[in-house]
Amino acid sequence: MIKLENVSKGYSEGKVLHTILSGVNLNINKGEIVILYGKSGSGKSTLLNLLAGIDLPDEGSIFFEDVNITALSEKERTLFRRKRIGFIFQFFNLIPTLTVSENLKLPLELNSMPFKKADEILGEVGLLDRINAYPDVLSGGEQQRVAIARALIHNPDFILADEPTGNLDFDTSKQIIDLIDRIVKQQGKTMIMATHSKDVMGLADRVLTLKDDKFIEMN
Ligand SMILES: Nc1ncnc2c1ncn2[C@@H]1O[C@H](COP(=O)(O)OP(=O)(O)O)[C@@H](O)[C@H]1O
Ligand SMILES: [Mg+2]
Repeated sequence: MIKLENVSKGYSEGKVLHTILSGVNLNINKGEIVILYGKSGSGKSTLLNLLAGIDLPDEGSIFFEDVNITALSEKERTLFRRKRIGFIFQFFNLIPTLTVSENLKLPLELNSMPFKKADEILGEVGLLDRINAYPDVLSGGEQQRVAIARALIHNPDFILADEPTGNLDFDTSKQIIDLIDRIVKQQGKTMIMATHSKDVMGLADRVLTLKDDKFIEMN
C-alpha cells in the first residue's frame, strides 16, 4: 500500500552533510495506523514531508500503491497530494483570513467537489455552530478539529499527521485522539502519525521508533 525503498535524506550545512534518514525500508498496509515515535529532531517531520511529496529523498523510492511519487514532477506531486492525501499539522495551519466554512471549502474547490460536504464533516467533528467563525476565536482543540475536518473532507486514502496533539493540553489531546480514533480508524483510512507523546500510542496498530536514522519496530 505505502512502500519505502531504501529512502535516505540528509541536509548539508556548508560542507558537512547531516544524515537524517538512511536506507529506510517500510511497508504500511491499507487501513493501518502507524505511529512514528522519536525525540525532537530525529526526523519525523522529514519523513512525513517526503511521504507528502513536499520534499524528495536523496536516494530511494516511495510508492503509494502503484504510484512512485519520487518519480513525479513537482506539479504532479502537488496534484497527487491534493487528491489522495490529508495532512494534519501540529499548529493547525488554518488560513486566518478565512472562516471555518471557507477553510473547508478550499480543498473542495480544488477537487471540484460539492460545498455541502463542509456542513457534513463539521457535524462529524461537532463544530456546526462555529461555521462562520474565524480561526483566531477558536480554542486550540476546536482549531485542530477544523484542521482534521479539512484533512478528511476530500476523502483522501492516506492521512499524515505531524504531532497533532503536540500543542494541546492533556484533556483536549484526549478529545482529538478520540476523534481520530472515531473518524480515521472507522473509515479504514491509512494513517501515519508522528508524535513524541505516549498518550496517542493506544491508537496505533504499529509503533515505529526513529533512532539514529533508522526505524525500530516496537511490539
Ligand atoms: N530544511 C532543512 N534544512 C536543514 N536541516 C533541516 C531541515 N529540516 C530539518 N532539518 C534538520 O533535520 C533534523 C530532523 O528534523 P525533523 O524532521 O524536523 O525532526 P522531528 O520532526 O523529529 O523533530 C533536525 O536536525 C533538523 O534540524
Ligand atoms: Mg517535527
